[in-house]
Amino acid sequence: MDKLIIEGGVRLKGEVTVSGAKNSALPILAATLLTDAPCEIKGVPNLRDTNSMFKILRALGKVVEFEKGKVSITAGKNTNYIAEYKLVSTMRASFCVLGPLLGKLKKAKVSLPGGCVIGVRPVDLHLKGMRALGADISIDSGYVIAKTKKLRGAYIYLGGVYGSSVLATDNVMMAAVLASGKTVIESAACEPEVVDLAEFLIKMGAKIKGHGTPTIEVEGVKHLQGATHTVISDRIEAGTLILASLITGGDVLIKNVQGKHLGALIDKLNEAGAHLLRTDGALRVKGRSQLKAVNITTLPYPGFPTDMQAQMMSLMTIADGISVITEKIYPDRFMHVAELNRMGAHIQREGPHAIVEGIKSLSGAPVMASDLRASASLVLAGLAAKGKTSISRIYHLERGYEFIQEKLTNLGAKVWREKE
Ligand code: UD1
Repeated sequence: MDKLIIEGGVRLKGEVTVSGAKNSALPILAATLLTDAPCEIKGVPNLRDTNSMFKILRALGKVVEFEKGKVSITAGKNTNYIAEYKLVSTMRASFCVLGPLLGKLKKAKVSLPGGCVIGVRPVDLHLKGMRALGADISIDSGYVIAKTKKLRGAYIYLGGVYGSSVLATDNVMMAAVLASGKTVIESAACEPEVVDLAEFLIKMGAKIKGHGTPTIEVEGVKHLQGATHTVISDRIEAGTLILASLITGGDVLIKNVQGKHLGALIDKLNEAGAHLLRTDGALRVKGRSQLKAVNITTLPYPGFPTDMQAQMMSLMTIADGISVITEKIYPDRFMHVAELNRMGAHIQREGPHAIVEGIKSLSGAPVMASDLRASASLVLAGLAAKGKTSISRIYHLERGYEFIQEKLTNLGAKVWREKE
């Protein structure tokens, strides 16, 4: 296992390009199960998670080739409907093969993904949606077994205790495209990655309206064709790079950014006094000596993304004043608090709130990554801290940030890997 070492205190400077969105690529790759025709997906980041999805598609009978961000997928000889535990347990997004398998093959056996360090993460909304479409669902030995003679369009309210669900919306939308008749998904997730999936499905011949709003309408079609698609840029990687520039007082031009996907983050950074200059498809971020503390509440899109909460907390550790960070999507997503405090931060957790009292500077320390975004927050803290930070279990970072070490090195950061 590798750990990442950062010698902090370097102001980042230069240009960096954001990769394609992991959270778009994963369901779009799953959607290729809806057709036997060849599909080509471009802009796919080379990550542990996308490679896990390739493995799942291969296990389900697809032939998958990946070269320089382009994935070519064709039908193989042995179509399979079982997604096994050892593959699904590595990544929750693999559960979204359920909808396409059910839509195309009328049967699916998919392992339950289980919880993870950021919380319980149930799949009740996914199953509610499939049942509403006419699937017979049972749970046996840790697997969801779904079968149907015919899926039929239905009205489905998909809101949960914490609001809409991104992957449940994806899953149900993918099952509905081949159902007979009309499906209305109410309280649908509005995230740009859901819109990107819908755009891909439309290219395949699906009839979808309302994606990007809380009401998605799907008119079922008999079959789907192959399609070519380029995934949108990764708004969470973009956001993390913006904060990397700010936390080091740097001057960075971030390319391949869709500013409209970052509204809540940019608004909060403006409130904190950050200097962001939007140009066509890029964002220039110039660090300032001192940012003001701001309060954050995570919410479904277009609210402040939970996937940026940990990184924003790192920025707030050295802002001027007190910031209250409230997590409304995953109330237990605070594993990074203790690690940031090891670096000298003053953060107190109170249930779903973290109270961050800004200090002058962080100091480098050995810390441990617990999940993908928590590891990004530790990288940011390490870049800003005085001295050396070593981050163990850095494989978490590789699940979601393509070439991150290289990208930071090109911006002048002193970052390297060592064996644990
Ligand atoms: C997706 C993202 C993840 C992001 C999350 C929230 C992908 C691959 N992952 O995950 O990075 O953090 O959205 O923006 O796109 N819930 C239920 N029942 C369900 C499903 C979800 O109660 O059946 C709850 C969850 O526990 C959570 C909330 O709904 O509290 C939102 O989760 P959801 O949007 O489903 O997250 P994912 O789609 O798994």
